[in-house]
Amino acid sequence: MQERSFITPLKESIEDKKKELTEKMEKQMMKRLQSSTYPMRELLAFYRCAMMEVETKFRVLDEQFSLSHDRNPIESISSRLKTLDHIYEKARRKGIPLTIECIEKGIFDIAGVRVVCPFENDIYMLRDSILSHDDITLVEERDYISKPKPSGYRSLHLIIEVPIFLLNEKRLMKVEVQLRTMAMDQWASLEHRLMYKKDIPEEVKNDLRKKLLECADLNCRLDLIMQEIKDTTDLYLEDQ
Ligand code: GTP
Ligand code: MG
Repeated sequence: MQERSFITPLKESIEDKKKELTEKMEKQMMKRLQSSTYPMRELLAFYRCAMMEVETKFRVLDEQFSLSHDRNPIESISSRLKTLDHIYEKARRKGIPLTIECIEKGIFDIAGVRVVCPFENDIYMLRDSILSHDDITLVEERDYISKPKPSGYRSLHLIIEVPIFLLNEKRLMKVEVQLRTMAMDQWASLEHRLMYKKDIPEEVKNDLRKKLLECADLNCRLDLIMQEIKDTTDLYLEDQ
């Protein structure tokens, strides 16, 4: 017993020292990254280029599909680049060292492209089409449509690698693509706005989570019926 009480404070002080040192090292690495802003700015510029490439690919698919089918499979496309603060925060959370190489290797959603479609089938058609491009590599796929998240969140997520062609080199960059229907997008935006970092008491939050899950189920049904309506109207179009 006596031994424990002697060792415990010693252990604690070693742990404290270790934590202090790690924090100090992290701060130094972050300072180094921030002071040498050029490599980081360059990396972000590469991601911006990759987002443009992916956006253009989807716009081309939309254009071509609309010619042959007389309707657009894409309702809207938007892109976002993670801010430096969010990149550092995610790196720290995932235990990724704060170097350009490790950040590029370990964080897949620095560049994000969101594609919103009218119908669920459009999502899978666009997925198949973009993955058939011979310059695109699929790194990871998460189908939260066939298997929604416990929150009720639905979307198809792809991490793809796309080449960008620079003055003297070709570089492969990772981009996160989120494909959703309009109903899925509306739910995700509202859920994010309502629940994100709000100081709501836990019991109220639980009740809201239940209600949001109900809305997600309704949305799922809405997408299904809309798809059925479209498939039926398509049959009549083919008859003409
Ligand atoms: P992050 O660290 O948040 O990027 O998570 P992850 O790398 O494990 O990926 P995940 O597939 O879980 O989620 C990536 C992104 O999908 C998030 O940044 C959100 O844009 C979106 N997302 C995932 N889950 C939810 C959710 O429950 N609600 C909403 N509104 N969006 C979600
Ligand atoms: Mg993310």
